[in-house]
Amino acid sequence: MPILFEEVKYVYDPRTPFEKEALNNINLKISEGEFVTILGKTGSGKSTLLQLMNGILKPSSGTVSVDKILTSRNDDSIFNIRRRVGLVFQYPEHQFFEENVFKEIAFGPKNFGVEANELNRVVLEAVEMVGLPRTVLSKSPFNLSGGEKRKVAIASVISCNPKYLVFDEPTSGLDPVSVNLFFDMVKRFRKFGKTIIIVTHSVKEAIQNSERIIVMTKGQIVFDGDIQTFIKSKKLIEWGMLPPPLYRLAWKIKEKVDDFDIKDDRLSEAVSLLKSMIN
Ligand SMILES: Nc1ncnc2c1ncn2[C@@H]1O[C@H](COP(=O)(O)OP(=O)(O)O)[C@@H](O)[C@H]1O
Ligand SMILES: [Mg+2]
Repeated sequence: MPILFEEVKYVYDPRTPFEKEALNNINLKISEGEFVTILGKTGSGKSTLLQLMNGILKPSSGTVSVDKILTSRNDDSIFNIRRRVGLVFQYPEHQFFEENVFKEIAFGPKNFGVEANELNRVVLEAVEMVGLPRTVLSKSPFNLSGGEKRKVAIASVISCNPKYLVFDEPTSGLDPVSVNLFFDMVKRFRKFGKTIIIVTHSVKEAIQNSERIIVMTKGQIVFDGDIQTFIKSKKLIEWGMLPPPLYRLAWKIKEKVDDFDIKDDRLSEAVSLLKSMIN
């Protein structure tokens, strides 16, 4: 069962002077168990795409469905979609509204029918999964550090046990150690069979962690494929992104090699050699 976009267009403020087409001609299928990274510069439509995945936004035309349930239906199936697709916002504060962390994390599962005597366990599991100490449970989510807020935001989504986990720029503003901790956590989620969709600015993160890369420019998908194809396409600059130094170096070396018929597995060998030299 997938998340499926068919011929999707999204327009903000239609039929007003502020009308803005954010997505156009989106066809996309994300199957269960995939780990997908979405890249693209600011304004390319990434956040809009994510919000269409769990029905916060409905397509202006075309259809979005989650496990065959259309997000545009006007009945309580939207409840079912929200439960399947957990979206962690770019700014955690935008999703907080409770007075303490316990209530914040308990809100989703409570709404989805988890019994009161089970709630405690569900909240504690979520807190442990994201690596927060239990002492935060009584604090206001608004008074935590940036990193803690992000963890609470993730815990409050994880506690609903969604199949699809969608993160909007989860690593922006994090130091390298916290970025690594975040991806360790994602690996744990994958062990539980979650489908992962991450939006990031970082080409390096995309290459190092995911399996499939989608690139957006101006509301359209301009690349959708695996890491090797992505690296070889060498269109990053055209797409408005800076390739990581390691890859610029690998490309330069490849250009200089006399044997123009260099085999791809030799390129990947060179890349892993460079990686081991840098690490
Ligand atoms: N709430 C909104 N109202 C009007 N226009 C918006 C709104 N949110 C985003 N946009 C516009 O839609 C386009 C895509 O934005 P967005 O999906 O946020 O891109 P990204 O996440 O890649 O930066 C941009 O031109 C942006 O200005
Ligand atoms: Mg965004």
